[in-house]
Amino acid sequence: MVTKLLLRMCCALAALVATDLVTAAPDGRELYMTHCSACHHLGGEGGIGLPLPAAKLADVTDDYLRKTLRNGRPGRVMPAFQRMSDAQVDAIVRFLRQDTHTTDPGFSDAPVVGDVDRGKAIYGEHCIKCHGEDGTGEGKGTGVTLSRERSFLVMPASISNRGFLASASDEMIRKVVVHGRKYSGMPAFGHGKLSDTEIDDVVAFVRAFEQQQAEPEPLDAEERPTHIYESPHDFETTVANVKAALTGANFRIFPDRLLEQGLIDEFSVNSRQVGIRFCNFNVLYGMLKIEPRLGIVLPCRITVIEHEDGTVTLAVPNLRVISRWFNNDELVELWDRMEQTFKDIIDEVTL
Ligand code: HEC
Ligand code: HEC
Repeated sequence: MVTKLLLRMCCALAALVATDLVTAAPDGRELYMTHCSACHHLGGEGGIGLPLPAAKLADVTDDYLRKTLRNGRPGRVMPAFQRMSDAQVDAIVRFLRQDTHTTDPGFSDAPVVGDVDRGKAIYGEHCIKCHGEDGTGEGKGTGVTLSRERSFLVMPASISNRGFLASASDEMIRKVVVHGRKYSGMPAFGHGKLSDTEIDDVVAFVRAFEQQQAEPEPLDAEERPTHIYESPHDFETTVANVKAALTGANFRIFPDRLLEQGLIDEFSVNSRQVGIRFCNFNVLYGMLKIEPRLGIVLPCRITVIEHEDGTVTLAVPNLRVISRWFNNDELVELWDRMEQTFKDIIDEVTL
């Protein structure tokens, strides 16, 4: 009797697991909340990231969205999500479509034919004041920035960025120029402001930015935003060493935070994974003055994890990668110096 019952329960469970495996498509909304909303918010408002309202999504293809996620905007704030599965990328695109009630406008991939030289002159007259001579937006800017005065609701996007050019078809670029993006200050050039031929010419000029992308990116796109180190010591010793090294380097240490704290019930929290948070307020305030957006990614945390086989690893933010998200030379310089401090601390800990 009991065996029979157990057997039935087992079968039911197995069936449940099986259906779960078959139907468990990634949840686009959840992925968006985790990976995108910090920068893009919900409901199309934008923030650090460009706004993604229905009016914009109606003018871009699914292919553009997928490629934008995969390529990011190298050298700017928009990351490349290269480790996501195709199913996850598709789920995010589906979520964006549902959320904005838009569909793929179905642009062709055929190149727009125009005269680059004439396009250059039109660009100089109508576009340069916002997108800059080299197409990167106002100097070293990104989509939205708080680090200098904002003359626009949204800082002009980089239209010479290779992530953008690899994602957008000519016809899409043409649509943006014709319709503009009124909600964020990109004017519409259709309806007689520029002729069809002039618009073709300026699109050809924007496409030609591709030829100026000779210099390779200094950062490896695969370089991760964290460094992982092995500790030769046990968990307690490693944690104690990290704290001693941080105090020695004039950092203030905050109470430990277990990695799973607040995420699961307190009795099953794994106390062998701990994030050590620390700060040097002078450095911190210096950084925030240069770039207030840093608040969301503050990297002052070293995570110590004990694995099942007893080995202990340390995860340390890779400041080289994170600092370059902000396109701010001053910041990059400061963080490169911090990176050295972090290296010294790790050397001391793992000695
Ligand atoms: C760290 C901030 C950040 C994160 C995280 C981020 N983005 Fe972006 N995103 C940006 C910025 C900034 C831009 C503008 C790029 C530029 O500088 O030209 C952008 C641009 C875009 C664009 C192009 C918009 C246009 O007008 O063509 C799309 C689409 C986009 N992001 C979608 C996403 C999605 C979906 C995610 C999550 C998987 C995501 N982004 C995560 C900051 C971010
Ligand atoms: C008054 C400032 C301004 C002028 C002038 C202007 N733009 Fe823009 N442009 C913007 C802003 C701001 C955005 C970002 C809007 C958004 O995506 O929400 C943008 C976006 C774009 C995009 C889309 C980029 C992306 O990542 O989605 C293209 C392409 C573009 N502009 C081309 C042009 C061309 C070509 C001209 C001249 C014919 C021009 N712009 C003139 C401000 C301007």
